[in-house]
Amino acid sequence: MATRSSSTKKKKRPPPPSLRTLSKAEARKQPKPVAEKKVRTPAFLYVGSPEQEALLVEELGPSARAVGAGIVGAEVRRDPAFARQLLPAPRPISALTREALATALIALIDDAGVSPRAVHVFTPEMARQGSARKSAHPLAHDATALQEVLQLKVDGRREKGKLGPATPHLLQLLLLGPTEGLVSITDVTDGPFGKVTVGDALASWPVPFSGGRAVKETSRDAPSSAHRKLDEAMAWLGTKVTKHDVVLDLGAAPGGWTRVMRDAGARVIAVDRAALDSALAKDPLVTHLKNDALSIDMAAQGASIVLCDVIWTPDNAVVVAERVLKTTSVRAAVITLKLKDPIDWGTLQKAQHLVRDLPGNWTGRLKHLMANKLEVTLLLRRS
Ligand SMILES: C[S@@+](CC[C@H](N)C(=O)[O-])C[C@H]1O[C@@H](n2cnc3c(N)ncnc32)[C@H](O)[C@@H]1O
Repeated sequence: MATRSSSTKKKKRPPPPSLRTLSKAEARKQPKPVAEKKVRTPAFLYVGSPEQEALLVEELGPSARAVGAGIVGAEVRRDPAFARQLLPAPRPISALTREALATALIALIDDAGVSPRAVHVFTPEMARQGSARKSAHPLAHDATALQEVLQLKVDGRREKGKLGPATPHLLQLLLLGPTEGLVSITDVTDGPFGKVTVGDALASWPVPFSGGRAVKETSRDAPSSAHRKLDEAMAWLGTKVTKHDVVLDLGAAPGGWTRVMRDAGARVIAVDRAALDSALAKDPLVTHLKNDALSIDMAAQGASIVLCDVIWTPDNAVVVAERVLKTTSVRAAVITLKLKDPIDWGTLQKAQHLVRDLPGNWTGRLKHLMANKLEVTLLLRRS
């Protein structure tokens, strides 16, 4: 007769969950998402910059509340300037291990009957200290590792035919702990003003950038760190600069933006009473006009791209935008609205109306970019 201990020995026990891939059924038995424990989550989650949550809450109205660094929940679907990413219908999700979390996310995809064309795992954003590079979030490594595991699972299932061809859906996971976060699965053809082409960041909401971050932190050799704003703005616009472009750079000194455009091969007309970086001042592709930005005739300069980073009142920036829309040679514009505390919401609303009521061949957006301080950027593109 077999003793109790020998029968236990013979029985092959499965390794603990932390050491193996969980089956779909097991994954479903993992700790339940907090939503199922009856904790209320907002209908929409907005991702913006840390330390700007109060402005985002003010923009979104009474249903909004800050839930983390740069993260605000609200019951209304809007396109606020101070948010760069939207997570509709977020659900809390957690698991004991990274592998189990990835399996639980796959189960969610299966339940939703979609085959996401993209998966984004991201952390809240870190605050910038002065003009230095942002330091990495403590969960950055977990986010990268989970993104890889999840992408491998999605690709593997697609190869095996367990997942159909990609549908226009995006899975977003905002990681709040090593193996927990808020997940949202949404149609990427949704824009703030209706259906849009997949991948057009300027028109989409949510946008195709993980966490709303259009560019990675870079350290270009440049006269100022202002190039970060322009790199990000151009990624939102999706506009490629060529040697055929004539860029009118209003408020150009010391020349960060001028340098980016000149390096892309464009001819640049740099307008500023202040001096340009000495190398740029001698550059044959750069013309320096020591004029007032408002005195410049965009059409006479043959501008195809207009940039404006002048430090002045935001209503002057709106005047520049109105001129851009009337100038047939211009195909894209990046215009900074410098703000002051307390915020001039009236002018911001005017700028929001301008992007909502654009002529048919123009697309526009007003966004607080990652590299922006107390300012927002008006982005305009003609098709
Ligand atoms: C923030 S800086 C521009 C930085 C620039 N984008 C770069 O990448 O280096 C703002 C500039 O606006 C210029 N400015 C202020 N008022 C102006 C005006 N009325 N017309 C033209 N430039 C002006 C200032 O001289 C200053 O150089």
